[in-house]
Amino acid sequence: MTTVLSKDERRSIRKAGSILSECMDLLSKEIKVGVSTKALEQEASRFIASRNARPAFLGYKGYPAAICTSRNNVVVHGIPSDKDILASGDIVGIDIGVEYEGYFADAARTFAVGNVSKDTRRLISIAREALYEGIEKACVGNRIHDISWAVQSFVEANGFNIVRAFVGHGIGKKIHEDPEIPNFGKPHTGRILEDGMVLAIEPMVNVGTADVKVLGDGWTAVTSDSKLSAHFEHTVIVDGKIAEVIA
Ligand code: MF3
Ligand code: CO
Repeated sequence: MTTVLSKDERRSIRKAGSILSECMDLLSKEIKVGVSTKALEQEASRFIASRNARPAFLGYKGYPAAICTSRNNVVVHGIPSDKDILASGDIVGIDIGVEYEGYFADAARTFAVGNVSKDTRRLISIAREALYEGIEKACVGNRIHDISWAVQSFVEANGFNIVRAFVGHGIGKKIHEDPEIPNFGKPHTGRILEDGMVLAIEPMVNVGTADVKVLGDGWTAVTSDSKLSAHFEHTVIVDGKIAEVIA
């Protein structure tokens, strides 16, 4: 299924997005050397509940937490833990899903912790910019893989590799809806974008191989070569000219 939002409905989903964005800003201030990813989880849970919203990931296919915290070679779906402590030089991806009055928003950002090398900062910038390259293509009349190709070509031109095993997705009245939004593919193919479609675009960018493997907990996805990976995600509403970023 694919949600197509009326102008009125857009108000409700924007609220889910603004709660999520506020939560992300709050966590961004807590990201420091010595903090555990579990502490970030607790902060996010408290905040989302305080806004009468629900953490959309908790319980989804059995996922055990409100947020994902993906450190260094973890690509996505890292589970917060009190044993997972941020150290200087680390990078950490924070991924949050919020449901508010039946509408969903999903967003992720990768942060540097303490002193991070120039090469690693470049990885983070390219991953962030790749997301915006994709968002620029999310306008009425374009096709899904116009987004995919914009992301892939930008990442590869900058010497990094784009993950294939996980993709972006439609969102709206469920956390995952059709269509899938791969971060690789042929331009001018795939579904045509319509006004009011809601998309979660989420490039995952690796320093080394694009290959990933999932650890024994069934969730934590790591790079096959243990090199670094960065992840950014926004939820956007497709609109005439340029998509509206809601989270
Ligand atoms: N942003 C990720 C996704 O869309 C996070 C999902 S975590 C899960 O797949 F627990 F909900 F699966
Ligand atoms: Co997502």
